Amino acid sequence: MNLKNIFSIFFISVCITGSAAQEIPLLKTSLVGNRIVEFVPKGFDKNKTPSLILVSPPNSKGKIPSDWTLTPKFTLKNNNAGAVLNLEGNISLYGGGEVTGPLLRNGKSIKLWNTDTGAYSVEGGKRLYQTHPWVMGVRPDGSAFGIIFDSTWKAELITNSNQIIYNSEGSLFKVYIIDRKSPQEVIKGLSELTGTIKLPPRWALGYHQCRFSYDSEKRVMEIADTFREKKIPCDVIWMDIDYMQGYRVFTFDSIRFKNPKVLNDNLHKKGFKAVYMIDPGVKVDKQYSVYNTGTKNDVWVKKNNGEEYHGKVWPGDCAFPDFTNPSARKWWGGLYKDFLSTGIDGVWNDMNEPAVNDNDFPEDKRLGTMPYDTPHKGGGNLPQGSHLLYHNAYGRLMVEASFEGILKANPAKRPFLLTRSNLLGGQRYAATWTGDNYASVEHMKLSVPMSLTLGLSGQPFNGPDIGGFLGDTNGDLWANWLGFGAFMPFARGHACAGTNNKEPWAYGEEIEKTSRIALERRYRLLPYLYTLFYESSKNGMPVMSPVFFADTKDPLLRAEDQVFLLGENLLVVPAFAKEPALPAGIWEELNLIEGEKTDKYQAKLSIKGGSIIPAGKVIQNAGENSFDPLSLFVCLDADGIANGKLYIDSGDGFGFEKGDYAMLTFNAVKNNDTVVIKVSNAEGKRNINEEVKKINVTVLLNGKTYTGSGTLTDGITIALK
Ligand code: NOJ
Repeated sequence: MNLKNIFSIFFISVCITGSAAQEIPLLKTSLVGNRIVEFVPKGFDKNKTPSLILVSPPNSKGKIPSDWTLTPKFTLKNNNAGAVLNLEGNISLYGGGEVTGPLLRNGKSIKLWNTDTGAYSVEGGKRLYQTHPWVMGVRPDGSAFGIIFDSTWKAELITNSNQIIYNSEGSLFKVYIIDRKSPQEVIKGLSELTGTIKLPPRWALGYHQCRFSYDSEKRVMEIADTFREKKIPCDVIWMDIDYMQGYRVFTFDSIRFKNPKVLNDNLHKKGFKAVYMIDPGVKVDKQYSVYNTGTKNDVWVKKNNGEEYHGKVWPGDCAFPDFTNPSARKWWGGLYKDFLSTGIDGVWNDMNEPAVNDNDFPEDKRLGTMPYDTPHKGGGNLPQGSHLLYHNAYGRLMVEASFEGILKANPAKRPFLLTRSNLLGGQRYAATWTGDNYASVEHMKLSVPMSLTLGLSGQPFNGPDIGGFLGDTNGDLWANWLGFGAFMPFARGHACAGTNNKEPWAYGEEIEKTSRIALERRYRLLPYLYTLFYESSKNGMPVMSPVFFADTKDPLLRAEDQVFLLGENLLVVPAFAKEPALPAGIWEELNLIEGEKTDKYQAKLSIKGGSIIPAGKVIQNAGENSFDPLSLFVCLDADGIANGKLYIDSGDGFGFEKGDYAMLTFNAVKNNDTVVIKVSNAEGKRNINEEVKKINVTVLLNGKTYTGSGTLTDGITIALK
């Protein structure tokens, strides 16, 4: 070690931790993937810090590349492990998962301790519901690296411009570094280690309507009927805790939700799906079968003295499943069978930090969860450990149990699960939303970098409560938010009980019209969106990407977080965006719905030169055929060429894994004053001749549009006049 390094370690230790920390030498360094290196510190013990982030322990794959430069330094202070990565040059930093603040993370710090933080108020927004010990750095030349701190211990993550520092309150852990030629390749590397989302059912990409206080079957049907009467597209109505009997999970209120099967059937008949909430806290009630079978199966978290741990949530005193234990997970998963047999289509796991509303711990009123020393049983690959170790994995282990149970209950359907708490890698089990935001312009703007950062941290399927959850929302805020929220990967309007009505029609006719246009635009783009989700399920790429993905060398794009890309070919500029940094090159405006251009709330959409965006017709729910006709929007590059893709399958189930899908590729070439578009069925065995009969093509060139149509088999020729 040279003098500079010795000095920097000493400096870090003294500045960050207040007194000198001991540097821990490396035990082992191995190449475990394409330019992915694993670093193991001396003294690492997997029984003290198990890995919950990676899909499986990676195998060694030969020699570390000779040009490798990035090596973390491990530290230990009072038995608390940390790691530091020193940075050279001008690096743009991203990641950290669910964070408030800007997309560019240089000079930021966050606390990794999953917390129920209404309006992002705890610790000034530095501590949120999820844990992603992951940072990506992009160098001036566009090459990039990423670092995973493979630990779930309570921790702080600091992203200084010259150092990435992770200080935990637990034992030594492994570090993984990916160093590749672009940020996109680094994100792919992250998914090679931590997995990708599973392809969601197509309906989950539609618009979702939720509210805490849709408190009867009647109110739910009123909401559903209004969507259809007003012809505002929507796929899902959500049941918050209101449907439960006294907030007991897996039960239905005997008066207000006395017939869930009938309710769900009625929703289905109108083309809606039904998603219901399940929290981890189980009411302590000896008359309640879930509590009794849990007790019989010995699943509850217990205190050090062996008594059941109880904490207050919605139903009062609750017991909590110890999800670290495989038999507790199996028991929990088994509860979904009868529940889903009422026709429930998807599940929402909430309060799973776990949030506990107790003030019984005067030593830390903001604890908001179990005491740190509460033991967890472990089992399988997981050792026994304290809540300090497992807290940040509680939600992630809960969604693993839920996911497995939902899949087992309905093996022919793709599970749809939404979670509030999670851990890096937890995208394998559940989509997410960004918790209890506030109905303010500030939180509306914040929702863009929040979603982008989750996407850069392995979780592409995410979005905010559109309109803002807490506080009253006015029509202007709603319309502005939906104007771009309609293009976020997970698009759900949600509201807290006691706030004003926040459905698309709640703000008068003008805003209702704006809402309809915004959602019609989303529904036209469902074929493109579904294709992006399919690709993300294969390679981990974000669905909603930062604009610097369009040119990773352009320094002006690095901090842009008002505008975003859908995939890499569609630029979304929200109406609120002021002087955004936009990518250079050819971009042509895309118009999908009459009236959108004169509506001040709609985001502006543009297609990148060289690409073809597939779109469908306006439909009211994702179950309707979009491809009658299929539309292709073509934007040529400087050489007069454009390409695109479209993924089609049955929309649910697993037939696609056996080849029941089609991946169409489109290729357009300009030749003097014509553009010829060819379609090929590049992959898959699905016969789509009945689904896709007619293709309408629009060529966007220098602000003008040229149209024509054809079929799958004929080439399509568009005259540029
Ligand atoms: C907290 C969640 O964040 C919110 O979305 C939900 O409406 C309430 N819990 C009630 O279940």
